[in-house]
Amino acid sequence: MYPRFSLSQFLSRILPLLFLFSPTSAQLAQNNEDPTTINTMEEFSGYPIHEPPHSFFSNSLSVDAQTLQKQIGELSTFSDSPAPSVTRILYTDKDVLVRRYVKNLMGLAGLSVREDAIGNIFGRWDGYESELGAVATGSHIDAIPYSGKYDGVVGVLGAIEAINVLKRSGFTPKRSLDIILFTSEEPTRFGISCLGSRLLAGSGALEKALKTTVDGQNISFLDAARSAGYAIGQDDLSNVFIKKGSYYAFVELHIEQGSILEERGISIGIVTAIAAPASIKVDFEGNGGHAGAVLMPNRNDAGLAAAELALAVEKHVLESGSIDTVGTVGILDLHPGAINSIPSKSHLEIDTRDIDEKRRNIVIEKIHQSAVTIAKNRGVELSEFKIINQDPPAQCDKSIIEAMEAASKELNISHKSMISRAYHDSLFMARISPMGMIFIPCYKGYSHKPEEFASIEDIANGVKLLALTLAKLSLQ
Ligand SMILES: *[C@@H]1O[C@H](CO)[C@@H](O)[C@H](O)[C@H]1NC(C)=O
Ligand SMILES: *[C@@H]1O[C@H](CO)[C@@H](O)[C@H](O)[C@H]1NC(C)=O
Ligand SMILES: [Zn+2]
Repeated sequence: MYPRFSLSQFLSRILPLLFLFSPTSAQLAQNNEDPTTINTMEEFSGYPIHEPPHSFFSNSLSVDAQTLQKQIGELSTFSDSPAPSVTRILYTDKDVLVRRYVKNLMGLAGLSVREDAIGNIFGRWDGYESELGAVATGSHIDAIPYSGKYDGVVGVLGAIEAINVLKRSGFTPKRSLDIILFTSEEPTRFGISCLGSRLLAGSGALEKALKTTVDGQNISFLDAARSAGYAIGQDDLSNVFIKKGSYYAFVELHIEQGSILEERGISIGIVTAIAAPASIKVDFEGNGGHAGAVLMPNRNDAGLAAAELALAVEKHVLESGSIDTVGTVGILDLHPGAINSIPSKSHLEIDTRDIDEKRRNIVIEKIHQSAVTIAKNRGVELSEFKIINQDPPAQCDKSIIEAMEAASKELNISHKSMISRAYHDSLFMARISPMGMIFIPCYKGYSHKPEEFASIEDIANGVKLLALTLAKLSLQ
């Protein structure tokens, strides 16, 4: 568990680099050259970027893993449940304090900080061609009740450290670099996941819905936002929208929340696509009746309709022929729920995901047809078939994937391509920007519970890869 970068190793790595660097800066000063005129990685490093693969520049990237580990620990103490669990809900006191903590770190990293009307926080390092689309990275710091320290946090504190890594290396960005802390990735308080990124990416439907959205305590979204110092004196939240094209690229660093990387002993997952979920609520209604008195030919059992639909979901998902199509009936409730009573009502909630939107929508259509047919054949009423959300999946951008792969090779970090089956703020950023994601291993794939853990070595690899990827994209 001990960080790979012990202090002595850290010094032995860094000290020679400091000596390597000083002549370079001296030369620049002598020649009276403005360092901002260096605009390719080759010029910056003084070596061709591909040969040798271990370039001077990638060698000079050094992550302060101990400080980062300390910050992750500190951030986890802003919690409404006892350690090691973490509970941090949107616009609560702890959420406000942790935002202050992050803004402070952004400031210390020399970034200029701004916040929008719902509390998405941006820390910017201006590039020398700041009129070009910026390169952004970021994630979230909210945590569902009794969850862990790493989900989202690694992508925020890791991003700040990636900026620090680049600053220490002497790098100068061409395109500006932005770190974004997204408001409320988790749906805990208002039932809306990825609230900040969804709105930022221009969801007019969400902008409208937020005017009337309340939490479980009947506190309105706008009142809650105001209590945290946001949306003061404004009901119109459309100023949160960011125009398509404002960002040249967006890259999110995140724990895998699955066990593939750990099982295979691979350090980095390069995400190629994010599967997007759709969710559906279904209700059947029948006559119910006494479990002994009503004979079989006379029944219209709402429970059996639900059971048949659950099997139909599995069948339609398997018919897609792709391993990427999944479907789950996670909720199946029967009413009245007594052993001697024929179910008169049933309620199902179905989650289905795919990386191919058309294929996922075909599954939804087939599920709908089955629900109608089952209701007809069983003489029950299909009283509700409601698609709650049907978000498009997102493909990661080819040139960002290439930048991440090239960076992994230069840094000699093992990597593999993979699909993100959970969704993230990146899914919504993909609506306005080319997008990519970097996964790091996490212990047994645990997430959303206190046992969530990522080793500091894996986090440091992720940060280093993020730093080099941001540098490459910034110079494009
Ligand atoms: C929620 O608050 C609104 C406005 O304050 C009020 O009109 C409404 O009755 C409340 N609803 C409940 C369920 O308390
Ligand atoms: C790259 O990493 C592998 C595995 O960790 C190691 O065996 C190899 O020596 C490294 N290559 C370089 C050039 O550092
Ligand atoms: Zn997350």
